[in-house]
Amino acid sequence: MSYSQFSALYSRFPIPNSRFPIPDSRFPNPSWEGLGVGSDSRFPIPDSRFPIPDSRFPIPDSRFPIPDSRLPNETMNQQRQKPHYSMCQGFRIPMGFPVTCFESGLSYNAQPEDNFIVTYPKCGTTWVQHIVWMLNHDGEPLPVGKDINLEVPHLEEVGADFVAAMASPRFIKTHISYSFTPYCADAKYIYIARNPFDCVVSFYYHTKGFVKHYNFAEGTFNDFFECFIEGEVDWGDYFEHLLSWYDHRQDDNVLFITYEAMKADTPNYIREIAKFLGSSYLDKLNNAEIFNSILKHTSFTSMSQDQSRWSSQRPKEMTPFIRKGEIGDWKNHFSDDQIARLYDKFIKKTAGTDIAMLWADLIPN
Ligand code: A3P
Repeated sequence: MSYSQFSALYSRFPIPNSRFPIPDSRFPNPSWEGLGVGSDSRFPIPDSRFPIPDSRFPIPDSRFPIPDSRLPNETMNQQRQKPHYSMCQGFRIPMGFPVTCFESGLSYNAQPEDNFIVTYPKCGTTWVQHIVWMLNHDGEPLPVGKDINLEVPHLEEVGADFVAAMASPRFIKTHISYSFTPYCADAKYIYIARNPFDCVVSFYYHTKGFVKHYNFAEGTFNDFFECFIEGEVDWGDYFEHLLSWYDHRQDDNVLFITYEAMKADTPNYIREIAKFLGSSYLDKLNNAEIFNSILKHTSFTSMSQDQSRWSSQRPKEMTPFIRKGEIGDWKNHFSDDQIARLYDKFIKKTAGTDIAMLWADLIPN
């Protein structure tokens, strides 16, 4: 058949499309005005409020999600954005972190005078970094132009050589779980835990805002929640991390505290931290000027100023790094289903421990 014969034939007998049925002249096509008037009850007039189902596009039933061949393990309903990471020794790490530094950081040879600030991300690291920096600088706040992550460097970001070259006593930040953290019996480890509900919210805004690290600017809280609950975020599973350090909370060289307790009684915890670091630090707090300066300059309000001291720049439209500093912001973000799922994971993962007591009045049940 020639092309012209084909196109003539085609135009006379269009290919049927079930979404746009060919009108049947025996049953006049009703107009809007004619709706219901003079219609034939055997062939009801379609009502645009209740569209005729199209078998090619079934109405999704959330009980039976439609598999999406593009994402083998996910369904179309659950199609979601994920942050991007680099991988190193089984850890997800922010894309901006040099893999070589991460690797060398894990093999750092911890020294007796080293003081580690250890957290799962978003649990109050920067707050405690500033407290120890000020304790070590006689109550002076970190000046604008300095970067806390070079002063109290992040081991996995700067690598072992950078840290080894620092003068002792060193103050070192790390997000590594217990078994991977460089260990020395005489070194000190301050661990700060935060309830997972607020942690995931804070972590979401962190991940969204550091666009170059995660390429997740368009990600939603729901997207991030799925990654968090699966432990598919940087530094891995929240609960594994917490459990690994909780087991060592009674060790002589570990100070285990919570973000919430620090918020409730900051002066007391500044004292606890100083006492743990040693008498020379505790003695400094006898000087009211030093103590009050630390209290003032490590407050949420003060640390919200000049934030270039704490992190690299984030796009203006994103939340600031020092964001809300609240307990219970999760209530503004979680669906009932998410509450149930995180609570369920919390209970299962922490079974046989007293961890739930850390946040007895905060965790929903
Ligand atoms: P939010 O995102 O809930 O506001 P990290 O330093 O481990 O990344 O933790 C960041 C979280 O600690 C953020 O929580 C941040 O606002 C909060 N934070 C930082 N400095 C604080 C301070 N001085 N007092 C209370 N919260 C602080």
